[in-house]
Amino acid sequence: MAAKKTSSAPKPSGGVYAWFMKWIMRSVWFALFIAGCRWLDTIKDRWYVLDPTSLHQLSQAAIAAAPEPNDINFMISYIVNNLTATYPSSIIAVNPNSSEWVLSNAGGAMGGMYVIHASITEYLIVFGTPIGTEGHTGLHTADDYFNILVGEQWAFNPPNLEMERYPAGSVHHLPRGHVKQYKMHEGCFALEYARGWIPLMMPFGLLDVFSSTLDYWSLYHTVRVSAREMIKNLLLGKI
Ligand SMILES: *[C@@H]1O[C@H](CO)[C@@H](O)[C@H](O)[C@H]1NC(C)=O
Ligand SMILES: *[C@@H]1O[C@H](CO)[C@@H](O)[C@H](O)[C@H]1NC(C)=O
Repeated sequence: MAAKKTSSAPKPSGGVYAWFMKWIMRSVWFALFIAGCRWLDTIKDRWYVLDPTSLHQLSQAAIAAAPEPNDINFMISYIVNNLTATYPSSIIAVNPNSSEWVLSNAGGAMGGMYVIHASITEYLIVFGTPIGTEGHTGLHTADDYFNILVGEQWAFNPPNLEMERYPAGSVHHLPRGHVKQYKMHEGCFALEYARGWIPLMMPFGLLDVFSSTLDYWSLYHTVRVSAREMIKNLLLGKI
C-alpha cells in the first residue's frame, strides 16, 4: 500500500485539476439552473385564468349577498356557483365539492382548507377557522391575495410596529418574497388566491406533518385533492 502511494506522485496536481473541473461544472450547472428559473419566471403569467381584481369583487359580492355576515357556507356556494358560471369547464377546472375540507398546519397556524382550484400556476382555496389561529405567512415565490370573507385578519410587518388590520371585504396582498406574522383573530375565513409556480409553495403547506403533527390522514387527503385538481387542469391544458 505504502509503495503504491509513493508511486502515484502526480496525484496532488491531478487532484487539484479534478477538483477545479468539478467546481467549474457545478458552477455551470448552477448558472443554467438560475437561468432556467429566470426564464420560467418570465413565462408563468401565460397560464393565469383567474385574476385578483375580479376575485376581490366576487368576495365582496358574496359578503353582500349573505343573509348573515358570518354565513361562510352561503358565501362559499355563492363563490363556487359564480366561478363555474363565469369560467367554461373547458378552460379551467373548479372543484364544486365544498364538503371537501382538510386540516392544514403551516407556519405555526392551523385551519381548515377547501381547494376550489389548483393548477401549476394558480390556486384558489377557502382557508379559515372558527376559533382563530396565528403564525408565519411563509416565504413564497408566488403572490398571495387573501380576501377576507368572515372575521378579521391581523398582520405584523416590522419595522412598522402598528398592527395591520384586514376586515371582511378587504384583501391582504402579500407580494412574493415578503413575510409577515399574521393572526386570524377568533373566527375568520378567507378566499385565498395565489399565482406563481405553485409546487414551490407545497413544502410550506405539507412539511409540518413530518416535523410536528404526524397527521398523515390530512396529508393524504391534501395531496389527493390537490393532485387530482392539478391533473384535471393539466388535461385541459391549464398549466
Ligand atoms: C360573478 O361575480 C362577478 C363579481 O361580483 C359579477 O360581476 C358577475 O356578473 C358574476 N357572474 C355570474 C355569472 O354570476
Ligand atoms: C364530497 O367530498 C366529501 C368529503 O370528502 C365526500 O364524502 C363526498 O363523497 C364528495 N362528494 C362528491 C359528489 O364527490
